[in-house]
Amino acid sequence: MSGSAWLVLVAPLVFGCAEPLVEDSFTPEQWDTLRASFAVPAYDVCQGVPEPRCTQLAELGRDLFSERALSSDGGHVPELPYHAVSCADCHDAGAYYVDTESTPTTTVSTGALKATGHNALPLVNLAIKDVVAGARPAYGWTGLASTADVVLKLALPKAMASTAGTVREALRDKHWTAYVALFGDRTLVRNIPADAAQDAALLANLAAVFDKYERRLVAVNSRFDQFIGGTESALTPEERHGFQLFATTALCIECHDGPLLTDLEFHVTGIRSENLDHGRNSITGDPADEGAFLTPSLRNVGATGPYMHAGQFELVGDVVDFYRRGGDEDGFLGTRDPRIEPIDMTDADRDDLRDFLLTLTGDEPDCHWGGAGSGSACP
Ligand code: HEC
Ligand code: HEC
Repeated sequence: MSGSAWLVLVAPLVFGCAEPLVEDSFTPEQWDTLRASFAVPAYDVCQGVPEPRCTQLAELGRDLFSERALSSDGGHVPELPYHAVSCADCHDAGAYYVDTESTPTTTVSTGALKATGHNALPLVNLAIKDVVAGARPAYGWTGLASTADVVLKLALPKAMASTAGTVREALRDKHWTAYVALFGDRTLVRNIPADAAQDAALLANLAAVFDKYERRLVAVNSRFDQFIGGTESALTPEERHGFQLFATTALCIECHDGPLLTDLEFHVTGIRSENLDHGRNSITGDPADEGAFLTPSLRNVGATGPYMHAGQFELVGDVVDFYRRGGDEDGFLGTRDPRIEPIDMTDADRDDLRDFLLTLTGDEPDCHWGGAGSGSACP
């Protein structure tokens, strides 16, 4: 739902104020609308690729996910360390694939590459994000990529300072058998130097491999899902009150709606950052996009800190305090979205809203695909 459509939910509160239970707070029609918004849609892991190929692609993706040889070999950017990072260094399988090394002031803190200057995004539920986003450029904090090209536009060139040549060498030297079994054409991994068309074909294969892997990493089934599915007791009365605030007076739902609790649009929340960051405007050049960032998913938010595009906050409660005071006074570009203004709430309300956000933590991704407990402990 876009625009201010959710503002309709604020109305009943004006009359039934401070009622802790949710069941009396919304009309049956409003409940139906809320349930429909948050329900997880059917999503597609293989997208028409038949088995066993679909699984084999994902397996190669899993292997390459921790392959540091895919990162800069120093030839392209000489000051960078040699083969210093893999995807797994910034997307930790044990923590919903966020960067657990980063702190609020130094994001992407593997120490090796700080190429994006942004906080790493979790790599779970991308198959669902794909369904919700459609063709929209909803990947990365600035929407610099759509589904198909996120690895090619973001991960390899920006986060890993890699090139087609580096990729070719890594595959040839370390993953030759698996690569050739899947793609047949040996020339793509053997020919050095290769021409631009060969480079593009090789990188497209690599993107397909990562895509099929990432689509396996699903983390839903939170207590919130049980609650929205009809089990009201899945949340405590305080958490339900937190949801009520989220969906009504605090206006969070205006931007954090849908199956991933994001509208996948770009907004200026007005958050201070060390380097004034143009956000979405750096991609589009549109003045209206100045300082705007993608609304991130709130699923698993209790476990994916630090928060915001530059990791400005360490704790979920810090983010709630940010909204409660109506954002930062300065230190950001663009014009703050008018829906972010000081929220009139008690300290207990603030805690309830935070506690509600913590109910969004779902299952770990299947350990066969690298979630917590993977490796020998995986059944
Ligand atoms: C140096 C740290 C680092 C490495 C290495 C890295 N990433 Fe990332 N990743 C990030 C950051 C930071 C972002 C957000 C960047 C932005 O929006 O500017 C991100 C974003 C993404 C996204 C977008 C997620 C979304 O919901 O929008 C995907 C997909 C992704 N990375 C996949 C990968 C893959 C696959 C690899 C390995 C080939 C990889 N990343 C390597 C730090 C890293
Ligand atoms: C106008 C749209 C909008 C509204 C209203 C809004 N948010 Fe956000 N939210 C965003 C955007 C955009 C970001 C990313 C901002 C950034 O990093 O620059 C964000 C980030 C967050 C994050 C950090 C998530 C992460 O992984 O980094 C949390 C938590 C959050 N919002 C919770 C809330 C809560 C709670 C409310 C209500 C009090 C709320 N939001 C209201 C758009 C909105």
